[in-house]
Amino acid sequence: QTDTEVELIGKNEMLPIYKPREKFSNKGTYGHGLLIGGSYGKIGAMILSGRATLASGAGLVTTFIPKCGYIPMQSVVPEAMVITDVDDEKLTAIKFEIAPTAIGIGMGMGQDEKTQTTFQKFLKSNSVPLVIDADGINLLSKHKDDLKLLKPQTVLTPHPKELERLLGKWKNDFDKLKKAKAFSKKYKCIIVIKGAHTITVFEDKLYVNSTGNPGLATGGTGDVLTGIITGLICQGYEPLTASLFGVYLHGKSADIAVEDYGYQSLTASHVVDYVAQAFLDLF
Ligand code: APR
Ligand code: MG
Repeated sequence: QTDTEVELIGKNEMLPIYKPREKFSNKGTYGHGLLIGGSYGKIGAMILSGRATLASGAGLVTTFIPKCGYIPMQSVVPEAMVITDVDDEKLTAIKFEIAPTAIGIGMGMGQDEKTQTTFQKFLKSNSVPLVIDADGINLLSKHKDDLKLLKPQTVLTPHPKELERLLGKWKNDFDKLKKAKAFSKKYKCIIVIKGAHTITVFEDKLYVNSTGNPGLATGGTGDVLTGIITGLICQGYEPLTASLFGVYLHGKSADIAVEDYGYQSLTASHVVDYVAQAFLDLF
């Protein structure tokens, strides 16, 4: 219907929002991204999102994970600080003394009932700009009354299945976007509908991303996107701008990486490694 504005997002739209680094800056200038998630066997999701937050330019990164992830995280991502839950295998008590400037939550988090309880408590007390992905979205879908805890400008990054659990079944793409717009208006949140062309929905506006390729259809690439968006918000990009820029950079990284790795062999780790090229390609 006519009240929907659609915008195609490409390099020209992204260049004006890119914030160059100042000479006399320090790591505090570029914020502190906190990533919360992981569970036994899914620490990799947190390693990927932690690396991606760093690659997007965050000054500091901390990951909050179950105890089982402590050694791998510190070994694989030495730049990230680590806070561990009291539980070995899952999140049961989300709490931290640091003052992050953006939080990404849900990657590999699992849906254990103790995780649900601590996630709900976190949503009640949190006032830091937030990106909710994967099992964070799935837990909201299972406990819909927790949706009222969503603060305005929260970014949700569902893939289609996760979106369907959240919004219910849709008849067709048109109906899907209508439901997504209604949800976005109701909770004043930004919905990044991940797919072949990722569409970001905010109230009556749809932003169609022009980068990305089928090489991204591999486990872990969604965790990378959450890390990038969280990293941009923690540096001071507004949540919507960070979502659009993050989706653009994520797809552009994959577009450059497939030239070296091809569609079949592209991995989420490669996408992280090529974020630098995506930034450099802006100029
Ligand atoms: N073309 C372009 N981009 C694509 C394509 C495609 N054909 N297929 C997937 N993508 C992109 C999406 O836009 C998104 O950014 O790849 C990413 C996939 O994100 P997720 O679905 O969240 O994948 P991820 O979570 O990392 O994968 C692991 O675990 O979350 C579950 O079931 C989920 O399959 C997923 C798996
Ligand atoms: Mg995912």
